[in-house]
Amino acid sequence: MGHIRTAVFPVAGLGTRFLPATKAIPKEMMIVGDKPLIQHAVEEAIFCGVERFIFVTSANKPSIAAHFDYNHELEQHLVIKGKHETLEAVRACTLEPGQAVFTYQQKPLGLGHAVACSIPWLQPSEPFAVILPDDYIQANTPCLKQMCDAYFGGIMVAAKEVPLHHAQSYGILAIHEKKGNLIHAKDVVEKPHPDDAPSRYAVIGRYILPYSIIPSLQSLMPGTGGELQLTDALRSNHIDHKAPFLGCVFEGERFDCGSKEGWLQANSMFS
Ligand code: G1P
Repeated sequence: MGHIRTAVFPVAGLGTRFLPATKAIPKEMMIVGDKPLIQHAVEEAIFCGVERFIFVTSANKPSIAAHFDYNHELEQHLVIKGKHETLEAVRACTLEPGQAVFTYQQKPLGLGHAVACSIPWLQPSEPFAVILPDDYIQANTPCLKQMCDAYFGGIMVAAKEVPLHHAQSYGILAIHEKKGNLIHAKDVVEKPHPDDAPSRYAVIGRYILPYSIIPSLQSLMPGTGGELQLTDALRSNHIDHKAPFLGCVFEGERFDCGSKEGWLQANSMFS
């Protein structure tokens, strides 16, 4: 079982699929149930023992940092009013000084570039998690915990079977072998045409990555859509360094909360 101490949250995106709601509110601050998507993601990481949180964000999204900061005025107000339960809820989303890093992805060059922006704050030689908060996952055991329990090194991605005609929305795994809920992947293709999809297993937004992936992140060239793709860093790390490449077919339901439909479906579970 792998203990992961650091998690990276790529949260610099413009949320264009959710406009106009996301014109002034970051998509990661959209509420699912009773809390913002980004808080669900952070709580999932905390559940797995993560102690260091790296948010790769942009200057026009100050509310994400504010959400996890200590708010003295608000806490004092709740203390004076005796609103203890609310106070506990507010404290639950306060990260300790030094636990969180907020760094900017200055140009929207792609997910691989976003993760590369976190490199200076990663712990040498330790694996780290990457969580895409708009992939909201409802599961009995949080998705990242399922992955940590199965992790023994190399690359691990969360995987889910999707209809073939959806292949163009995902990284799709090429499978060497599937044993139970673990896929031994031999490759991954970013957003293939359904005719070219090597399987129906899509990468969902949870990754455990080895520190050895850094050179692959630093040498990314534009890939699908002209972007620096995380998928391409996974491929080259696996192929060049023979690192194990596993897909964890997790138990649970995933909602694409970067889209209006997915977000509505996720919230309908709470009604
Ligand atoms: C990203 C990744 C893709 C992955 C998906 C999961 O795509 O590039 O490989 O399958 O997240 O949500 P995006 O949704 O940012 O286009």
